[in-house]
Amino acid sequence: MRLAERLQVVKPSATLAVSAKAMELKAQGKKIISLSVGEPDFNTPAHVREAAKAAIDQNFTRYTQVAGIPELRAAVGAYYKKFYDVDVAGKQVVVTNGGKQALYNYFQCVLNPGDEVLIPAPYWVSYPDMVALAGGVPVIVDTLAEHGYKINPADIMRAATAKTRCLVLNSPSNPTGATYTQAELDLLVETCLDKGILVISDEIYDQLVYAPNTPASCAKWFASHPEHIAITNGLAKSFAMTGWRMGWLVAHTPLIDAMDMVQSQSTSNVCSIVQKAALAALTGPWDEVEAMRAAFEQRRNMVMDIIGGWKGVVCPSPAGAFYAFPDVSRYYDHRSPDSVSLCNRLMEEAGVALVPGEAFGAPRCVRLSFALDEATLRTALAAMAQGLGVA
Ligand SMILES: Cc1ncc(COP(=O)(O)O)c(C=O)c1O
Repeated sequence: MRLAERLQVVKPSATLAVSAKAMELKAQGKKIISLSVGEPDFNTPAHVREAAKAAIDQNFTRYTQVAGIPELRAAVGAYYKKFYDVDVAGKQVVVTNGGKQALYNYFQCVLNPGDEVLIPAPYWVSYPDMVALAGGVPVIVDTLAEHGYKINPADIMRAATAKTRCLVLNSPSNPTGATYTQAELDLLVETCLDKGILVISDEIYDQLVYAPNTPASCAKWFASHPEHIAITNGLAKSFAMTGWRMGWLVAHTPLIDAMDMVQSQSTSNVCSIVQKAALAALTGPWDEVEAMRAAFEQRRNMVMDIIGGWKGVVCPSPAGAFYAFPDVSRYYDHRSPDSVSLCNRLMEEAGVALVPGEAFGAPRCVRLSFALDEATLRTALAAMAQGLGVA
């Protein structure tokens, strides 16, 4: 069958390829510990689940406004007052099917063919493909482990051309956990504003930041320059709600109206039941969010203690999110000369599933998730160390 030419610019998800291989080996009876997951191992808090059940029982099961029920849009706006002391109105919010749809539709709404988008690498797997599907050109801006995998204004100046339309920021980062301070974010945004470059800030991990760092956001810049700054976030990572599909985008109203239009012609509203659950999450108690954050911080410390002892492996400590991104290139050899073959070998020989750094534009590294209990993590890291030959 002849498929659309636009598909030539996309590649299948490397993370899904890892899960497929892990499932195949498990089906053959092999024990595989998956460090490749991108979701919390905790359950969604009970009051959120109860709100969903109540929504069903109250027959809140019909179409809603495409951009979300007004009280939920207002609650998302209130999130920015609560955490960043910034006023965001409900009409500056569109509720989306996860942060993923917010990003996808954003690029559909702001890019023209040939527009360049600066994407710092290592990057979250979907950015380049989303940009390409919108007709844009991903421009990868490499960062170094020595700089904590962060870009600086000079990197933007070097990479920007007359065609640069926007910069993607992701702090805390998937896959590196790199987390910008507010001062660092401010400098990057100022540079973009000077050059007329839009900023799309993916803050999906902003609730998962570890001491001594504190959460930072582009929200304050949205307040002063709403037409240049857009922010996406959601409840997947903070409330352990990956399967519910609840995200949002904050932007100035003409862009929100455009997002609403695209969504109205594609998926319509986010599930009505999920919206009620999300409202309960945003307006209810946050103690479980903090408990999960604290657990991730403890695991981060444990994982870094272990990886820190691996000879020749460089791994900046992740200040946020729940991934470590060690540079394991020293252990590449004739059997496994790159991250894909190394991950395949470690899966087959050590029974540990990791994601090759290739998927994130960083072929010297592998990504491991610490969204698993400490005992399982210890077992997996010991097997990985043995498989690499560091133990
Ligand atoms: C950096 C980043 N952005 C966005 C998303 C999308 O999250 P969701 O669509 O589940 O809300 C993810 C999920 O893994 C992510 O890691």
